[in-house]
Amino acid sequence: MPLAAARLLAAARARTRRATGRAVHRAWRWVQERGAVSNQQPGPYRFHTLGDGSKLAFPLGTVFNEQSIAIGPFCIIGERVTMSAGFLPGLDLGPEPVIRIGGGCVIGRGSHLVGHQSIVLGDDVWTGPNVYISDQAHEYRDTTLPIGKQWPRNEPVEIGAGSWIGTGAVILPGARLGRNVVVAAGSVVRGEVPDFAVVAGAPARVVRSYSELDGWQPPFRYEAPQPLPEGVTAEQLRALVGWDLRPPGAE
Ligand SMILES: CC(C)(COP(=O)(O)OP(=O)(O)OC[C@H]1O[C@@H](n2cnc3c(N)ncnc32)[C@H](O)[C@@H]1OP(=O)(O)O)[C@@H](O)C(=O)NCCC(=O)NCCS
Repeated sequence: MPLAAARLLAAARARTRRATGRAVHRAWRWVQERGAVSNQQPGPYRFHTLGDGSKLAFPLGTVFNEQSIAIGPFCIIGERVTMSAGFLPGLDLGPEPVIRIGGGCVIGRGSHLVGHQSIVLGDDVWTGPNVYISDQAHEYRDTTLPIGKQWPRNEPVEIGAGSWIGTGAVILPGARLGRNVVVAAGSVVRGEVPDFAVVAGAPARVVRSYSELDGWQPPFRYEAPQPLPEGVTAEQLRALVGWDLRPPGAE
């Protein structure tokens, strides 16, 4: 093939590749928008409650028995978040939700909420990606049966309003976290965590906490960030973000 024709062909191929790339991304964005789940656009899902302004990004993770899952208003559920109630799809778990997610929650992509009895997230709980929360553990004390075939044990889980769960954290059955608790990335949390505490490690221990008397102890290693850049008003920021930035319960 003459050189000029080869160049023309290569240029045409490059243009086609660029156009195909753009088309694929445009099509995927369209699929994501159409596949997202909300109460206006529920797709095949029938949640116990799906509050106004809440959205589940597409693609979803495994979601089943969603009639036992209640999601408050203005929540963002990231891509591939698994939310399951009970062992298997198709179970009637009664009228009360097994998983309750409060208003204004953000669940990071790839996270799992695996509920069998009760998982309750208060308002404005935010999780990083790939957080695992479950209220069930396998029983293992019968030495004659495989662990997977022994009757499991349920313990309700509660995560207080305003808490923030770092990426990769595991919240074990029976964990009860207070208000505005910080769970450090990769922590494994069990038992009670008081309000306004930072927990870290596996098993997670309190590494910083707040009391009216002593404030935050140990003291922070860094200055608090300036919430408002110079010349920007709180109203302008709120308008930009479109969120209510007040802490939960504040007037
Ligand atoms: C917990 C965190 C918020 C820092 O909080 P902090 O109050 O500033 O804590 P500090 O950095 O002062 O650390 C306090 C102690 O906890 C330890 N610690 C902090 N993060 C830890 C973690 N992920 N795992 C284990 N220990 C941790 C520190 O080493 C320190 O211990 P030391 O005093 O023995 O050195 C931060 O480390 C973290 O994990 N952020 C999560 C990030 C994330 O997941 N982002 C995506 C989600 S949106």
